[in-house]
Amino acid sequence: MIDLQEGVFLKKVITYGTFDMLHQGHLNILKRAKELGDYLIVGVTSDDFDSRRGKINVQQSMMERVEGVKETGLADQIIIEEYEGQKIDDINRFGIDIFAIGSDWQGKFDYLSEFCKVIYLERTKGISSTKIRSKNNHLKLGLVGKAKRLWKVANEAVSINGIDIVGTSGAGYDRRLKKLNNYSFDQLIERVDAVFIESDVNNRYEQIKYSLECGKHVLCDLPMAIGRRQQKELLEIAQKKDIVLMSGIKTAYSTAYYRLILMVKSGEIGKVLSVETTCTSLSESSKLSNYSENNIWSAMDAWGATALMPIFQVLGTNYVNKTIISKKIDSYFDLFTKMDFIYKDAVATAKIGKGVKSEGEMIISGTKGYIYVPAPWWKTDYFEIRYEDQNKNKRFFYELEGEGFKYELVNFLRAINHRRTLSYTGNDVLEEISQIYEEFYNRKGIIRI
Ligand code: CTP
Repeated sequence: MIDLQEGVFLKKVITYGTFDMLHQGHLNILKRAKELGDYLIVGVTSDDFDSRRGKINVQQSMMERVEGVKETGLADQIIIEEYEGQKIDDINRFGIDIFAIGSDWQGKFDYLSEFCKVIYLERTKGISSTKIRSKNNHLKLGLVGKAKRLWKVANEAVSINGIDIVGTSGAGYDRRLKKLNNYSFDQLIERVDAVFIESDVNNRYEQIKYSLECGKHVLCDLPMAIGRRQQKELLEIAQKKDIVLMSGIKTAYSTAYYRLILMVKSGEIGKVLSVETTCTSLSESSKLSNYSENNIWSAMDAWGATALMPIFQVLGTNYVNKTIISKKIDSYFDLFTKMDFIYKDAVATAKIGKGVKSEGEMIISGTKGYIYVPAPWWKTDYFEIRYEDQNKNKRFFYELEGEGFKYELVNFLRAINHRRTLSYTGNDVLEEISQIYEEFYNRKGIIRI
């Protein structure tokens, strides 16, 4: 390829990869690729592209991986690979002469030979990012809660290299848990580095506190505690001991949901005036009077935190007033609860039900347009931004594998390795949610119907 600026013939080579935790195999291939020509372009995959193609437990962020490649001094240019089919575009755009890639891809890129020469370079034996990841951070994880809530997590965790599930506590024997050993809580804590907690709401504070005091990292469903004071205390212990305490609402970690929140915050729909969320499910038991006895979670315990999360993330926690109306069938069990919040210049409503069914959608209304997430919005993989002029509507889809526990666990692992919680749900949100549960349980200002 003649470089027009320099007027000299430059043989251009391109190669691609994730380059996570850069290792000798990467160095070798970059060196060999460079030797094939005069100018080497390296395509580093974007985080998004990797997760779409199922590589979700990459440890370093895209910027860190780009830095790693830069530091080798072998790349003349680094680009980001963001979409399927980009390789052809790049080859044409940069006037590439040679496409080089490791021999593990033998044959897979023959289709590019229509555009340039394709060379498979021998892969370095005995090393890979996968190997380093699993050697570095084999995290021994324990699961706490009832089997009916844990088996999905256990299933999704199996495919994450770097996490070993040691056992459960509180789950008893259940076929779906694949014969995991069930321990008492303190026995489990002795055996693990970290715990995933999705136990009954009232048990969580004690369990988290004990785990943190034993130096174990915690990923826990919300609310983690009842009341602001307890939640604050847990966060303080974690901070003092340099331990990760992370919120376990899986919705927060789905790519689509995360993008949606960023778009709202960046003013895509103008100023937000209203957030409405609905989460309902019909319960396992049809006999309403048996709910409490059978230890079935109430609407508030099953859905409250999930429905409140986007409200506080988008509008903050400084509301002026709130009204909570609840249809209770006994002192503990609420069948349906509606929570209204009034802010200085916005309003929000969360509707939750257990044993009542409604459309589980989320709508965020703004001065320029609104965001619509169809049911079930808490498993967000798709949303739309709708405007007055329908032609301007935009649709977004990001694949969500399973129910999303995988993303949450991968983020947990990453947070532990980097000793840094990626703050998907801020502490103010956690504290406010805990506070609302306390008021709800104490029936403070609750209107009962
Ligand atoms: N590569 C290599 N020798 C190795 C590992 C990787 O030649 N031992 C090459 C790959 O063939 C590819 C490039 O390095 O051309 C980038 O690969 P990447 O997928 O980032 O590295 P892996 O270590 O294979 O990553 P993973 O284990 O996550 O698949």
